[in-house]
Amino acid sequence: MREELLAIKERVIEQIKIAEQPSQLEEVRVKILGKKGELTAVLRGMGKLSKEERPVIGQLANEVRDEIESALKDKDIIITEKLNQIRIKKETVDVTAELGKSKTGYRHPLYTTVEELESLFRELGFMVVDGPEIETVNNNFTMLNFPEDHPSIGLSDTFYIDDNHLLRTHTSPVQIRYMLDNKPPIRMVSAGRTFRYDDVDDTHSPMFHQIEGLVVDKGVTMANLIETLNLFVKNLFGAEVETRFRPHHFPFTEPSAEVDVSCFECLGKGCEKCNFTGWSMELLGCGMVHPNVLRNCGIDPEVYSGFAFGMGIDRITMIKYGIDNIRLLYDNDKRFLEQF
Ligand code: DAH
Repeated sequence: MREELLAIKERVIEQIKIAEQPSQLEEVRVKILGKKGELTAVLRGMGKLSKEERPVIGQLANEVRDEIESALKDKDIIITEKLNQIRIKKETVDVTAELGKSKTGYRHPLYTTVEELESLFRELGFMVVDGPEIETVNNNFTMLNFPEDHPSIGLSDTFYIDDNHLLRTHTSPVQIRYMLDNKPPIRMVSAGRTFRYDDVDDTHSPMFHQIEGLVVDKGVTMANLIETLNLFVKNLFGAEVETRFRPHHFPFTEPSAEVDVSCFECLGKGCEKCNFTGWSMELLGCGMVHPNVLRNCGIDPEVYSGFAFGMGIDRITMIKYGIDNIRLLYDNDKRFLEQF
């Protein structure tokens, strides 16, 4: 048994010597000194020894255990110290290093466009107002004279939060909020995020931006609508740009129109860029506010009339800055943003 004890000691001390991690020390400790450890097993077997042998071997076993324990302790201190040194080296901060100039962020091109649009409309006498991105189904559809079976009300096109709330699919519900809270004369625009169940491609994103406009007063006509939007388009894109009003349908306006602008490349002559049509983009939807919408908001359509319009801001931004992929607007890649 004596040889056995000395062999264990020799082997274990060697193992401790080569250990490099606290976990290796722990492993040794459990394997030798633990409840089921080798040394513990030897000590348990002492019952079989003769009376004379027992105290001698017992003392030796205690000595071996003490030696192993203190070797473990010493090595633990060495390892911990060594690991600390490595960590300190790794985490060293050079407090004298030159940081260079700290960089401020960049205005996102989308919001530069929003500010430009808002300021153009302010110059035309419009108020700039805000509306919530989470809307009631009532404001988003019903009050805007949508028929119950209109396709965009369907679950496949719209993000519903519950039966009565959704992520607004357009900025038009801000018209409703504004008319409920304010009496004519009304001249307001509202820009912000809108949401539709669209797959992402080069020109579509489930989140996009719109700006909405509304004018309500006595004697407002289609001529006012056309004149206002023409002025706006020329202010935005340049005096040489022409508009084209095409008949269209929206539930909340009657009559309704879509407005195209002439090709920026050929200024209407026809080129490859515009497929030789002379017209480059469908810029906005507009129309005379439907009497039902006015009525829904407590405004008498026999006394007042109005026009409204709405347009996508993402596409205007893409055209203004020559961006060919809508994803770039939302990736927030610094290398992209710092170009503007
Ligand atoms: N809400 C429409 C859309 O998202 C855009 C629009 C069209 C707004 C005509 C208007 C309008 O105010 O009169 O497609």
